[in-house]
Amino acid sequence: MTRYLLTDKLDLADNEAKEFSIETAQGETSLFVLRHQGEIYAYQNKCPHLGIPLNWQPDEFMSMDSEHIQCSTHGALFKPENGHCIIGPCSGQKLTSLALEYAADNKVWLTFT
Ligand code: FES
Repeated sequence: MTRYLLTDKLDLADNEAKEFSIETAQGETSLFVLRHQGEIYAYQNKCPHLGIPLNWQPDEFMSMDSEHIQCSTHGALFKPENGHCIIGPCSGQKLTSLALEYAADNKVWLTFT
């Protein structure tokens, strides 16, 4: 288990996401952090269907109605609050969630196993 300093300050509007890349023992790993209904969530940027990144444009992870995370390749929809796929070829599977820690100085840390 390794801790990574993700950012000095996380400043996201509701339904806004930001993509990050960290270097892990498995190589470069893409992830994103999302604010939805006032809560912050973090997931690996890897669709359970084909194991490829969800987004085709930087920081674009949400469906048009901003209600779900959407895979840009085949359109699977995921619940922002738990990463469960509710519609699409990976229905019943889920995104890999990641643990964030917030320090008093606004820094955001990620724990990756
Ligand atoms: S690669 Fe994401 S739904 Fe197919």
